[in-house]
Amino acid sequence: MNRAEEILIRPERHADRDQVETVHRAAFEGEGEAALVRALRELPVYLPELSLVAVESTRVVAHIVLSRARLRAAGGEREVLVLGPEAVLPSRSHRGIGARLLREALGRAREMGYPAVVEAGRPGYFRAQGFRPADHWGLTVSLPLEAALVSAVELVPDALTDGGLVVFPEPFHRLFGHR
Ligand SMILES: CC(C)(COP(=O)(O)OP(=O)(O)OC[C@H]1O[C@@H](n2cnc3c(N)ncnc32)[C@H](O)[C@@H]1OP(=O)(O)O)[C@@H](O)C(=O)NCCC(=O)NCCS
Repeated sequence: MNRAEEILIRPERHADRDQVETVHRAAFEGEGEAALVRALRELPVYLPELSLVAVESTRVVAHIVLSRARLRAAGGEREVLVLGPEAVLPSRSHRGIGARLLREALGRAREMGYPAVVEAGRPGYFRAQGFRPADHWGLTVSLPLEAALVSAVELVPDALTDGGLVVFPEPFHRLFGHR
């Protein structure tokens, strides 16, 4: 099976957890993102409906998770989503699976009423998928990353117009370092 159409996308189940970690370890060549997913699951910001796996036959070949975060803007504080990590098994990459999983996650997030999604760290892929540089809205993040590495997408038109500071959940600080 080579085409993304033959992939089933669904929320992660408890029994998927080992395979999800295997996907992140293989894609990121390290333990950091697998540990991030484990830590996020333990927090109130974790949304089981937005932790999605792509399954080929019975094997988990990709995973994405969107979690709740605070956006502090001049007009007040509100909730947005932060993306990450997303990973596709290296042996299954470049087949459109990542793009499909991302589209599905964004669609579900929009249906749930979330206004925007923010990603930190991997601008190349996400900009190719319709995300824009955070600078576009004057958005900053609580992570020690240059603005050029941060991207976002609005799920509700003009949701990010006021810019502001996106406060990432603590496990992201452990991965990227504290500022
Ligand atoms: C990034 C990743 C999720 C993409 O998954 P994938 O299934 O290979 O991606 P797709 O096949 O759906 O590719 C979608 C498009 O993005 C492009 N793309 C893929 N990786 C890219 C990158 N690093 N930079 C820019 N564009 C990229 C592809 O060229 C493709 O566009 P095209 O089909 O028009 O050529 C996957 O390669 C991966 O797990 N990488 C390691 C972990 C990572 O970087 N995760 C993202 C940050 S959390």
